[in-house]
Amino acid sequence: MPPSASPESRAKRAFARLFTSSSVRVARAPGRVNLIGEHTDYNDGFVLPMAIDRALWIAFHPIAEPVVRVYSDDFDEWCEFDVQQPAHGAPAWSEYIKGVAWVLRQQDLRLGGWEGALAGDVPIGAGLSSSAALELAAARVFASVSELPWHPVQMARAAQRAENEWVGMRCGIMDQLVAAAGRADHALLIDCRSLALTPVRLPAATAVVVLDTLTRRGLTRSPYNERRQQCEEAARVLGVSALRDVSVTALDDNHEPDGVARGALLGLDHRIRPRARHVVSENDRVQRAAAALGRGDAPTFGTLMNESHRSLRDDFEVSSPPLDAMVAAARDIGCYGARMTGAGFGGCVVALIDAETSAAFATRVAERYRAREGRSPDVYVCRATDGASEAP
Ligand code: GLA
Repeated sequence: MPPSASPESRAKRAFARLFTSSSVRVARAPGRVNLIGEHTDYNDGFVLPMAIDRALWIAFHPIAEPVVRVYSDDFDEWCEFDVQQPAHGAPAWSEYIKGVAWVLRQQDLRLGGWEGALAGDVPIGAGLSSSAALELAAARVFASVSELPWHPVQMARAAQRAENEWVGMRCGIMDQLVAAAGRADHALLIDCRSLALTPVRLPAATAVVVLDTLTRRGLTRSPYNERRQQCEEAARVLGVSALRDVSVTALDDNHEPDGVARGALLGLDHRIRPRARHVVSENDRVQRAAAALGRGDAPTFGTLMNESHRSLRDDFEVSSPPLDAMVAAARDIGCYGARMTGAGFGGCVVALIDAETSAAFATRVAERYRAREGRSPDVYVCRATDGASEAP
């Protein structure tokens, strides 16, 4: 297959080559880019991601045995496991499918077996949630072959649990929820405490561009879990169940905040104070950003993206020199705003630009970044898509 073939056709062709079946079903789940609201989901806060037009596809059919037998066209690798008793092991990508099976079994659901072939075009480890795409596509397949109703929020929670407890990455709910419940042409405002979802339409004349530095850092053993612990420690010291409960006025000595005492943030240990400052200020930015988007105010939205990047770089300390260089390149060329997206430590920047400049922006920002960093980035202009689906 030429590398340019769509992942949908690669999955279907691999299926046709490997399995004898007259009836193939197809499930897909998208990657995501987070527009604003970083490291807030596991603090019960607010996020504003969108599902993107890059996805993981699985061509499959149900089988009578309680077994999953699946081939990855991207890795040219097989995996087979018992759905009743999945066991940890290689290949690495199979852990996300086994984790979903394990959680659904923990919920006492009767799972059917299936055979399938998968292929995707969400870059791996780039901060665009290729793992959540795989989890939700696998969840759709299990729902289909086991005749389970499709509840996006419940399935997102199951996939998050798979990642937390089976894979060992203590992620929040954002990636799985937007992969399950994204809406075409919209970003999704998620209240990560109530799980209320509010689609917000993207301004008509703008485009969302993802700028991949191609630098990578694995998440499971990264400082991600350490950041999460620091946030939990800050919440404990402040006497709240999560940093969501700290009002932005607690950052300001001149105001009497609700709940948390005036100046309380100043009393935090110097290591965790800036972490808390990021989360509290970011929650406030997400709500102002969603309101700006709702009224089509791209300049205000862009300013908030820029402030978010500064806070992630200086207070949360999850940016990196390549991410900072990419943000600078995007701003030099001209955008409403640009920031690192996802967990950080490598991966991608997201920028909001005028749609009519998108072709020129993509070329020029790549040139500018190459001139600064000595290597070419990948640039995608993204469309917001629906969450996980099964082809009719
Ligand atoms: C990763 C996690 C998410 C979220 C982001 C940071 O993508 O999977 O839950 O915490 O990092 O915003």
